[in-house]
Amino acid sequence: MSPIKLLALLLLPQIVAISASDSSPFTFNGFKSANLSLDGVAQLAQNGLLILSNFTKQQTGHAFYPHPLTFKNSSNTSAFSFSTYFVFAIVPQFQLLGGHGLTFVLSPTRGLPGSLPSTYLGLFNESNNGDISNHIVAVELDTLRSAEFNDIDDNHVGIDITSLESVLAKPAGYYEKGVFKNLTLNSGKTMQAWIEYDGVSTLFNVTLAPLKSRKPSTPLLSLRYDISPIINQIMYVGFSAAPLQTSHYILGWSFDINGAAPPLDLSELPKIPRIGPKKQPKSLTIGLPVISVVLLLLVTICVAYYARRKWKFAEVVEGWELDYIPHRFTYKDLYIATKGFKEKELLGSGGFGKVYRGIMPKSRIEVAVKKVSHESRQGMKEFVAEIVSMGRLRHRNLVPLLGYCRRKGELLLVYEYMPNGSLDKYLHDQPKSTLTWAQRFKVIKGVASGILYLHEEWEQVVIHRDIKASNVLLDGELKARLGDFGLARLYDHGSDPQTTHVVGTLGYLAPEHTRTGKATTSSDVYAFGAFLLEVVCGRRPVDPKSSSEKAVLVEWVISLWSGGEILGAVDPNLGGEFAEGEVELVLKLGLLCSHSRPEIRPGMREIVRYLEGTLAMPELSSAAGVSGGELGYYCEGFDDYRFSYTSTAQTAMFSGSLSVSNSLISGGR
Ligand SMILES: Nc1ncnc2c1ncn2[C@@H]1O[C@H](COP(=O)(O)OP(=O)(O)O)[C@@H](O)[C@H]1O
Ligand SMILES: *[C@@H]1O[C@H](CO)[C@@H](O)[C@H](O)[C@H]1NC(C)=O
Ligand SMILES: *[C@@H]1O[C@H](CO)[C@@H](O)[C@H](O)[C@H]1NC(C)=O
Ligand SMILES: *[C@@H]1O[C@H](CO)[C@@H](O)[C@H](O)[C@H]1NC(C)=O
Ligand SMILES: *[C@@H]1O[C@H](CO)[C@@H](O)[C@H](O)[C@H]1NC(C)=O
Ligand SMILES: *[C@@H]1O[C@H](CO)[C@@H](O)[C@H](O)[C@H]1NC(C)=O
Ligand SMILES: *[C@@H]1O[C@H](CO)[C@@H](O)[C@H](O)[C@H]1NC(C)=O
Ligand SMILES: *[C@@H]1O[C@H](CO)[C@@H](O)[C@H](O)[C@H]1NC(C)=O
Ligand SMILES: [Mg+2]
Repeated sequence: MSPIKLLALLLLPQIVAISASDSSPFTFNGFKSANLSLDGVAQLAQNGLLILSNFTKQQTGHAFYPHPLTFKNSSNTSAFSFSTYFVFAIVPQFQLLGGHGLTFVLSPTRGLPGSLPSTYLGLFNESNNGDISNHIVAVELDTLRSAEFNDIDDNHVGIDITSLESVLAKPAGYYEKGVFKNLTLNSGKTMQAWIEYDGVSTLFNVTLAPLKSRKPSTPLLSLRYDISPIINQIMYVGFSAAPLQTSHYILGWSFDINGAAPPLDLSELPKIPRIGPKKQPKSLTIGLPVISVVLLLLVTICVAYYARRKWKFAEVVEGWELDYIPHRFTYKDLYIATKGFKEKELLGSGGFGKVYRGIMPKSRIEVAVKKVSHESRQGMKEFVAEIVSMGRLRHRNLVPLLGYCRRKGELLLVYEYMPNGSLDKYLHDQPKSTLTWAQRFKVIKGVASGILYLHEEWEQVVIHRDIKASNVLLDGELKARLGDFGLARLYDHGSDPQTTHVVGTLGYLAPEHTRTGKATTSSDVYAFGAFLLEVVCGRRPVDPKSSSEKAVLVEWVISLWSGGEILGAVDPNLGGEFAEGEVELVLKLGLLCSHSRPEIRPGMREIVRYLEGTLAMPELSSAAGVSGGELGYYCEGFDDYRFSYTSTAQTAMFSGSLSVSNSLISGGR
């Protein structure tokens, strides 16, 4: 024997030991590039997953690290320390049926020939179970209780030394901050396991944890047991499974002798296949809640929209109104007609509210919608009744009232639209265009005939109550049309008769009207008188901005008239082009109608005839009685204005403690 051969022989165990030790530590983050020794039903999946068993029955599956590992210096010295870490999953085919378990095994051979499935876990057979000569050390993750081997339950971890009867077993679980938590091995969930043996202290530790957890500091099993006499110097390490309609997967594995098993990169581990009925695709599991949330949101928006719409277009209709339904407009139609009561559609605003231009959605009729806010519902019934009856008033010199609509705190009156607007726009504040005398005279006659119709020609007496230039509208042919008849009445109805409001426009209110609170045809005539002077002179009846002698129009005209210069009152905008006789007639008629004593004022029928020239107007002096006293007569009534000069509002309300029974329609005819 050559010395070299002898040396080799002597050093053989060392050489083997060194070569074996070279193979550890090893780390498999998935088994894609691994050269494991597989047998039985064990296989490697495309993605690197180690499938020890795939729902097969009564068979075994083994996967061993192919290279031998040295666990001792020599056959009769103590075993080295070792440590292994692996990630596994046990997936049952049927939720409640657990198959047999999975083991980590140290075996003297690569593979376990002659081993049996099922209760033998692919480790032993009847003849070698419990026989020390099998040299097998294993850790079982058992999911079935085998009474023959004194299993504690169907979900336990045990340390098996040469025998299936565990030296130590505990229900599967882990300690988290000293608290024990159960783990169900065959839950299909991926878990971690650490198996460590310390050769010096001979402590055998087994630790489990769920996948995402850190390694618990307290092991599940801790057994003092010297495995040195059991194991050989050279051993193989691997896994064994004895499936029963269960799949056993190893996702990753690391191992070291005399060192801690290296950690695994959990993100690199292969995925385990899905089990049971195919789960809904991700798009559905995510999509469905998203879709339902979106749908819910949509429904909420729709409901909110319709609720808002309903609230927005809400109207007030009471039982008594049902008779007037034909005269009612829906708020929605008016809303659409006026484009949502847009500022752009605003025609003007007066003492009672705002007026909007609109085009009715279906009929395409042009309308003027007057929005009147009212607080009390008192008198509303009578008022609506009157409005509806006034809807029947038809005269070429009246603005047709088409209908109404009522909402909470709001009344909407719908009139025919007058394209040329109100007369005041042609008279005051440097008008853009003005009217010739002929046009004005035609307007005056039109208004007079309108009032005559209200006072005397309709089936009932209608008192207008608010005759003034801004309530005289001009239609397409510049024909005068009186609007707003009776509207002042809405405000006349005080809730308390003791505090009846007198409503009208400053400068047009007859003195006895403010005094008694009672509107009469005669108070309308008074307002008409003021209107006449306004049209001829192009000045407001009361203009606080003017010098004091011109502030009250009627006073000023009287003073001119008494000085024999009545034509000096004519609107300079006419440019001197007017029929003197007509102007004088109108001015004098204006003064006569503006007389503070109602009995002196003419009736509308006479007024119409004076204007037509079919009846001679009485001389002012004779009509007013004593010539010298006239001024006094006229001025008597104007004290009322004087105290109101501070008011800049065109429509003023006078409050008094008056008990009156005002009615727009004063009895039948
Ligand atoms: N039917 C209508 N057609 C056209 N414009 C109108 C109509 N009714 C009212 N207006 C306009 O709306 C303005 C405001 O009217 P209103 O509220 O009655 O106030 P006032 O009569 O006190 O000026 C009027 O000055 C007029 O220019
Ligand atoms: C895999 O291991 C076997 C022995 O178990 C060996 O024969 C084979 O050559 C190895 N293959 C590779 C690629 O390492
Ligand atoms: C595992 O078994 C199932 C059915 O039992 C089969 O569909 C699947 O292809 C198997 N997987 C592998 C990797 O053999
Ligand atoms: C094995 O032998 C080496 C040196 O040969 C020594 O350092 C080590 O402590 C031994 N290990 C055991 C467990 O006896
Ligand atoms: C094994 O131990 C015995 C004593 O217990 C000793 O006589 C023997 O030489 C040892 N063998 C080896 C190979 O070290
Ligand atoms: C039991 O297993 C051992 C070791 O693998 C083997 O030698 C023996 O033949 C087996 N016995 C039976 C009955 O299969
Ligand atoms: C843990 O398992 C045991 C036995 O299976 C059971 O008695 C206990 O209630 C379980 N604890 C929890 C928290 O599930
Ligand atoms: C095993 O667990 C015990 C605590 O029970 C610990 O003191 C010991 O260091 C552990 N051994 C190993 C090898 O981790
Ligand atoms: Mg008006």
